[in-house]
Amino acid sequence: MRRRDTNSRRGFLKSTAATTAVTVLSRNAETEAAAEALAAPGPNDKVRIATIGMGIIGFIDTDCALKTPGVELVAAADLYEGRRTRVKEKYGDHVSTHVDYREILDRKDVDAVLLCVPDHWHSAMSIEAMKAGKPVYCEKPMVQTLAEGPDVINAQHETKAVFQVGSQFASSIVFDKLRDMIAAGAIGKVNVVEARYNRNSSLGAWQYTLPLDASPDTVDWDRFLGKAPKRPFDATRFFRWRNYQDYGTAVAGDLFVHLLTAIHHATGSHGPTKVAAMGGLRYWDDGRDVYDAILSLLDYPATQAHPAFTVSLQCDFEDGGGDATSFRFIGDEGVISTDLDSLKLERKGISWPTAEQELKGYNSVQTFSKAQQEAIAAKLAKEPRKASARTAYSGPETFKPPAGYDPRYDHFVKFFTSVRKGDPVYEDAVFGYRAAAPALLCNASLYESKLINWDPVKMQVVG
Ligand SMILES: NC(=O)c1ccc[n+]([C@@H]2O[C@H](COP(=O)([O-])OP(=O)(O)OC[C@H]3O[C@@H](n4cnc5c(N)ncnc54)[C@H](O)[C@@H]3O)[C@@H](O)[C@H]2O)c1
Repeated sequence: MRRRDTNSRRGFLKSTAATTAVTVLSRNAETEAAAEALAAPGPNDKVRIATIGMGIIGFIDTDCALKTPGVELVAAADLYEGRRTRVKEKYGDHVSTHVDYREILDRKDVDAVLLCVPDHWHSAMSIEAMKAGKPVYCEKPMVQTLAEGPDVINAQHETKAVFQVGSQFASSIVFDKLRDMIAAGAIGKVNVVEARYNRNSSLGAWQYTLPLDASPDTVDWDRFLGKAPKRPFDATRFFRWRNYQDYGTAVAGDLFVHLLTAIHHATGSHGPTKVAAMGGLRYWDDGRDVYDAILSLLDYPATQAHPAFTVSLQCDFEDGGGDATSFRFIGDEGVISTDLDSLKLERKGISWPTAEQELKGYNSVQTFSKAQQEAIAAKLAKEPRKASARTAYSGPETFKPPAGYDPRYDHFVKFFTSVRKGDPVYEDAVFGYRAAAPALLCNASLYESKLINWDPVKMQVVG
């Protein structure tokens, strides 16, 4: 995956810059240029999309994709009748709706698919869609289980499909800025990253509203189950599937994957070598079989891209202080913090004491005999004092994306640029798996009470 060749991509976009003026949502110059290029008339000047899974994110992703120039919706699939009705109400009768997504994959007039289905469908549907020749935008996490990763990677490799994972933090201008600041030496050597994704509401804790007409007549339950164990119709499991291990990936798979995507993007990392997690179900005990609070530690080895660092991840659905997603990238020369709406650098570095501080400050010297104190004072007077060697950094210390900035749009522009112009896939299956796998390993560690070793290059559990 060529994710860092922004210079060559910029050059390409400039050379193809369209004359057609378009209004775009992002104030990211690179995205605007790419969106303008997509508006240019050309042999493939329309991308006809179909969305499979018209739930909460299905509508959000479709709306966002449709804001990209040259994209139109021709079909959608969903298993709940009410959502198929809603598709027609919202996008018009000309959009065909389907229960069986395979009908969409068979259609020649569908140029690309968005997969917005629950996690237990991601890998099978992605592979089928790629084999059917469709470019795929698959929501995160790329896979529900560790074992599914290599199959998706192989399918992308074999079919050469445009396959982009929908973790939009990878396209965020906030994390681009963070990456550039780290690369420019703003914090020296990164040694710890703290990240959290906390919530304090029932909706945040996945207690989504069930429709009043939910029944086996309005929901294709058997089709929903797919590879999951057979069981009788259960509307709660269908509409709140995240709360059950059979369909979702628990808090870590669902939300840590965003944090890891951002961390891997900002540091250029392939992933950790050690993963450990603890947590439990403490508040939202509504019949779910997943935890609602988790803390994880992940150890990253030194590579050519970055020094060794340790990551702590937190997701707490009962954070009485309010919901918050935030990161602190800690280096020996400074710290960059972001809450996604702003980014701030603090540079203090490591401090060394003056001779005065060493002799009189909070230190051992004053506990020594007078003779020793005098001897140390005389020695210090002759020695040069240590000072921290700071990297020269003259870049920005703060950054704020435009109000209402949504990296999802930037992510979709990248996807459609790959579909239309053949640009390298931005967040491909390898990147997607390298972000999903450690998140899934957090679940394994929590469930099995053990530390797990991982080879992030070979993408395999070790031992
Ligand atoms: N990138 C993000 O920020 C983001 C945000 C939310 C959700 N997501 C991801 O999007 C996916 C969907 O989440 P959601 O919150 O929209 O769930 P949801 O329950 O609101 O919607 C899922 C929809 O998929 C449909 N579906 C299930 N199996 C299907 C099948 N075999 N064929 C056709 N339709 C099927 C269901 O009928 C349902 O309407 C999840 O994987 C989730 O992790 C990503």
